[in-house]
Amino acid sequence: MRSFKNEATHVLSFINHKGGAGKTTTALAVAEILAQEDRKHVLLVDLDPQTNATVTLISEDKWSELDREGRTIAKLLSDRINFHEPPKRDIETAIAKRVSIVNDGIARLDLLPSSIRLIDIQDRIPMIALSGNFTTNPLEILKNALQPVLGRYDYVILDCPPSLGTVTQNGLRISTGYVIPAILDIVST
Ligand SMILES: Nc1ncnc2c1ncn2[C@@H]1O[C@H](COP(=O)(O)OP(=O)(O)OP(=O)(O)O)[C@@H](O)[C@H]1O
Ligand SMILES: [Mg+2]
Repeated sequence: MRSFKNEATHVLSFINHKGGAGKTTTALAVAEILAQEDRKHVLLVDLDPQTNATVTLISEDKWSELDREGRTIAKLLSDRINFHEPPKRDIETAIAKRVSIVNDGIARLDLLPSSIRLIDIQDRIPMIALSGNFTTNPLEILKNALQPVLGRYDYVILDCPPSLGTVTQNGLRISTGYVIPAILDIVST
């Protein structure tokens, strides 16, 4: 198993401050093609509380169940913000395996689902130091959460929300590259 440190894992953020520019559609297509056609091991991390990527890759019923059980990126991040207590959610239990509606699931494509609860997390991240936590870097919460599994993937695809807030900044912090889909208009570009 490779470690993240040797940078063999490509981490790609799909970003654009403009909404509706094609981030999710492109991120999903790239993730599915890499896994299905190129036989790469791919983890798609849905960083957008709109959960569009999540409910495209798994059913809404399945997502509701995972969200109720706290098996989402929101819970992983909130465990790290609540620094008084040790992290409670094991990332392994939050990763949905063999996702996609293509072929009833793609063998090498995994998903770390999002949650609408991520809105609250986004607001709390800048307040970490104010709450007395001086040891957690607010821009490295995602890195810490993903660290145990990053080495097993060839590609980690981050579908970011339409903002450059702290969740997106956490994504950029661990990215080896980024993609900015744009509509050919002045606002998007
Ligand atoms: N290459 C494309 N050509 C035409 N339509 C597209 C293309 N890519 C995406 N779309 C359409 O544009 C709309 C927005 O796409 P998408 O949800 O991927 O954008 P987004 O940037 O993720 O949006 P948000 O900022 O809300 O997360 C969708 O209806 C999608 O089907
Ligand atoms: Mg999107």
